[in-house]
Amino acid sequence: MKRKVLSALLIAAMTMATVGCGGGQQAADTQAPAETEAPAEAETPADDAAADAEAPADSAAASGELITVGYAQVGAESDWRTANTESFKSTFTEENGYKLIFDDAQQKQENQIKAIRSFIQQEVDYIVVAPVVETGWETVLEEAKEAGIPVILSDRMMDVSDDTLYEAWVGGNFVKEGETCGDWLATYLEEQGRGEEEINMVTIQGTIGASAQVGRTEGMANKLAEHSNWKMLDMQSGEFTQAKGQEVMESFLKSYDDIDVVICENDNEAFGAIDAIKAAGKTCGPEGDIIVVSFDSVKAAFESMIAGDLNATFECNPLHGPRVAEIIQKLEAGEAVDKIQYVDEAYFDTSMDLESILAERAY
Ligand code: AHR
Repeated sequence: MKRKVLSALLIAAMTMATVGCGGGQQAADTQAPAETEAPAEAETPADDAAADAEAPADSAAASGELITVGYAQVGAESDWRTANTESFKSTFTEENGYKLIFDDAQQKQENQIKAIRSFIQQEVDYIVVAPVVETGWETVLEEAKEAGIPVILSDRMMDVSDDTLYEAWVGGNFVKEGETCGDWLATYLEEQGRGEEEINMVTIQGTIGASAQVGRTEGMANKLAEHSNWKMLDMQSGEFTQAKGQEVMESFLKSYDDIDVVICENDNEAFGAIDAIKAAGKTCGPEGDIIVVSFDSVKAAFESMIAGDLNATFECNPLHGPRVAEIIQKLEAGEAVDKIQYVDEAYFDTSMDLESILAERAY
């Protein structure tokens, strides 16, 4: 495997780069409750990961030695995923000193494993994985390790017994996102004078076994345990897609005629659920029959809140390209990197000036 060495000048420029990310900062400025802050175990706020991790890469390009990065992406199932892909494609450019080999696994773990093996065969310099699910990665990560190729995880986590199989992980704190959602709901219901009322909920989960599903479900379950008047009627996977979200909501509406709250584990599922609610002759949003909440905070979720359909969205920041680039630059420089890097995230609801926030929103 061809290894690259960056100039001392390049390294110095990179280590000085500490710039906050647009989405997280905007959210924090808008309304970030204490619960949305990076947890204590977060070693480094990844929002500091150079939005301009591209800066040093100009020098890498000038040296004529591109760093080859294989990115095993989950798929193209959601607006969030599209923004994440764009973040990587716009960061890992030849102009910035990289050659990106991008693979879309179409939400299938076996496709990601094949992609990783192909990256190993191609002797890439780094492998980046946003794993579809958490388990089942040991063998292929051992193969990457034997080939001497560093692996960086982004977005979702892998559940591996040996954490030397990857260099670092950067992403959102999914449990915290779920807990923030539960806390928001408690406050909202209290404000509506429904704090003591029996509240019937359903959850449209993400891809079962994905960190975003596991964490958000767990976070919400933690809050459910604090409210004896909250009842979870049903949970089914909507695979993080709008079409499946709609299908699952249609089935919930047939089974239960007294749903008060639907928790969608991403925005796209919520868009499908809202279509199903309307098609069933019911209403949703702040003035409607059913409270709808979701995760991600993509632009279309702001439009849905402005339209009065969605009540709130809990942020998951997808702009990981520059953060991963910063990790790579540090590894190139022989520097230590923080193993676990959480991104700061906030939430948005219809009490806020959504038009203004949307006008500045990066994704
Ligand atoms: O892992 C992040 C999740 O994956 C996002 O919430 C979702 O939109 C995507 O599919």
